[in-house]
Amino acid sequence: MTTLAILTSAGSGVRLGAAVPKALVLLDGVPLVVRAARGLAASGVVDEIVVTAPADHAEHVRGLLDHLERDDAGTTVPVVVVPGGVTRQASVAAGLAAADPAHDVVLVHDAARPLTPPDLVRRVADAVRAGHGAVVPGVPVTDTVKQVRPAGEAASVPVQEVVGTVDRSVLRAVQTPQGFARDVLERAHAAGAATAHAEGAAATDDAGLVERDGGRVVVVEGDEHAMKITTPRDLRVAELLLTEDR
Ligand code: CTP
Ligand code: MG
Repeated sequence: MTTLAILTSAGSGVRLGAAVPKALVLLDGVPLVVRAARGLAASGVVDEIVVTAPADHAEHVRGLLDHLERDDAGTTVPVVVVPGGVTRQASVAAGLAAADPAHDVVLVHDAARPLTPPDLVRRVADAVRAGHGAVVPGVPVTDTVKQVRPAGEAASVPVQEVVGTVDRSVLRAVQTPQGFARDVLERAHAAGAATAHAEGAAATDDAGLVERDGGRVVVVEGDEHAMKITTPRDLRVAELLLTEDR
């Protein structure tokens, strides 16, 4: 079995609000996409990485990922950079289309999760290799979660009415990399592209496409270091995690 990782990096990072696309933003001097790619490579289980880059930064990203070490012996992981699509889902599809069709395991990972530990990458890949068609890392939800519905306004402040409190012990917040048997991911993406406009809200992750396609998804233990950087505050939290690790 060989494993492909698709590293989605083509977003612009509107919510982060930096002058460059999010994947190129520096975390302690190193671009997020480089950190995420190094984590994938250091897992030792990834044989090729396809990076979806913002179209006008593809050459730059390629240059940044020249020499990705896989192990102490100095072997490296080959990297292909392709322009991403308009949505994350389209970017993943572009990555799949560009990859060597021989890989039978596919990990889909966000450049926006630069501190994802190699251990977590291995845990996900191992579960796919053990026969699970779709695997996501998840962490317990610590907030009390309530389901709500709109209930008009009070003194021109919009209010919502609580429908109920969700049992959080059965909830998981999911991260990336998400791992798939290649055929499972390809079928889910084909089905997702066909129904994209028919079904209301788009799936926000690849496992969601598998669920819609009727597939079974399993969860393995996630890691707080796999947090996603969305806002400037998240970048500060990531800086803090880095200092704690030193
Ligand atoms: N992504 C992508 N192609 C897109 C949109 C997003 O490859 N068309 C990638 C991003 O680069 C990121 C990951 O998907 O690594 C998760 O997306 P998100 O956190 O939403 O990043 P952005 O879309 O860049 O951020 P924002 O939504 O704030 O603009
Ligand atoms: Mg986005």
